[in-house]
Amino acid sequence: MEPFRFHNPTTLYYGKGQIEEHLADEVLKIGRRVLLLYGGGSIKRFGLYDKVMNILKGAGVTVFELGGVEPNPRLTTVYKGIEMCRQHQIDLILAVGGGSVLDCGKAIAMGAKFDGDVWDIYQRKARATGALPLGTILTLAATGSEMNAGGVITNWETKEKLGASSPYTYPVFSFCDPENTFTVPRDQTVYGICDMLAHCFEHYFHSTRHAPLQRHLIEAVMRTIVEYAKRVVDHPTDYDARETIMYCSTMALNGMISMGIVGDWACHAMEHEVSALYDIPHGGGLAILFPRWMEYVKDVDPSRFASLATNVFLVDGTGKSDEELADIAIEKVRQFYKEIGAPQRLADYGIGDDQLERMAAQAVRFGDIGHFRKLGKEDVLNILRASL
Ligand code: NZQ
Ligand code: ZN
Repeated sequence: MEPFRFHNPTTLYYGKGQIEEHLADEVLKIGRRVLLLYGGGSIKRFGLYDKVMNILKGAGVTVFELGGVEPNPRLTTVYKGIEMCRQHQIDLILAVGGGSVLDCGKAIAMGAKFDGDVWDIYQRKARATGALPLGTILTLAATGSEMNAGGVITNWETKEKLGASSPYTYPVFSFCDPENTFTVPRDQTVYGICDMLAHCFEHYFHSTRHAPLQRHLIEAVMRTIVEYAKRVVDHPTDYDARETIMYCSTMALNGMISMGIVGDWACHAMEHEVSALYDIPHGGGLAILFPRWMEYVKDVDPSRFASLATNVFLVDGTGKSDEELADIAIEKVRQFYKEIGAPQRLADYGIGDDQLERMAAQAVRFGDIGHFRKLGKEDVLNILRASL
């Protein structure tokens, strides 16, 4: 294992009835002036907006609203939020939505306490100097943003999509009620599953010498995702399935299964370039890239792929070499994506080869990517070409 320090300060409320019981108290612990952040309106359509507003108003909280946060949230919206926080002396940002709304909340929280342009933090030119407290109510199981410090923002003018993370941006509290994900449309449910599975893959293909418990923990989360994915896609109001998938998404990226290992993260770096230029859903991009990346790097350690085949997809490995099992694992991954209706190629989003060079160059802008196998620009280009 690598030496590590672990600290995750987010208070998590999981399950039914928690918002009604605890939201007001959690907010009032922090203050009475709240910036309520949400997306394109889904929370109004399924009633969560009214519920939250009633609780906040009933608790005597003054609410300022910023709706319309985009999927792949934009820097311009972040600037708007920072301005509102300063103008209205906001005590707490309450982000209600999917990963995009939560990530936007993190950027606004950092920006409100930063003397300069918050984009500099995403460009790695500066570090966060603090953040306003952020609370979240999650409505889409995917990113793990409800219990991690990361966030991803798109600068649409420069066509850059960059992530940042700071000890200040862990949500203070997060409410995860599976019923709030019942209305997530089929395609977004699929993208969420692809994203959480991708987070497991990024950890699983680590470059750390000896990490047996981490391997088992990650396999357990992947196995559960594979087991429940089709059920949740076909039965969107199946509480047990939504709850299980939601818990998988939190566990996949809250640090619990990845202590002491250095994950790969090349596919995320590449996918962010595809979304930055074409504004495609993050999970869809990952489903396209991962099988090609796996083909490209499988020779580094076929035994890791063999474990994926036998322990996650429950393939009988008797009499098969690691190399054979590696090929089977990659085929199982492809089949899984197909079965749940994930996109298969960049062409599914109408993406051709005209911007591949640019994406590859941008993906390695801070240096080679990946840890399981380091990838330079040519490698990225090869994987993108294979994904067309
Ligand atoms: O905007 P609204 O109207 O709310 O609709 C959203 C949006 O159109 C809709 N939706 C969300 N909850 C719903 C719902 N529709 C009906 N009922 C509900 N309950 O779903 C659409 C997509 O939402 P979005 O928040 O964009 O999806 P997701 O949670 O997948 O977040 C994606 C963003 O997170 C970033 C991605 O890059 C992308 O920008 N990531 C964040 C990470 C993190 N913070 O740790 C890690 C990830 O790897 C990822 O990069
Ligand atoms: Zn992701």
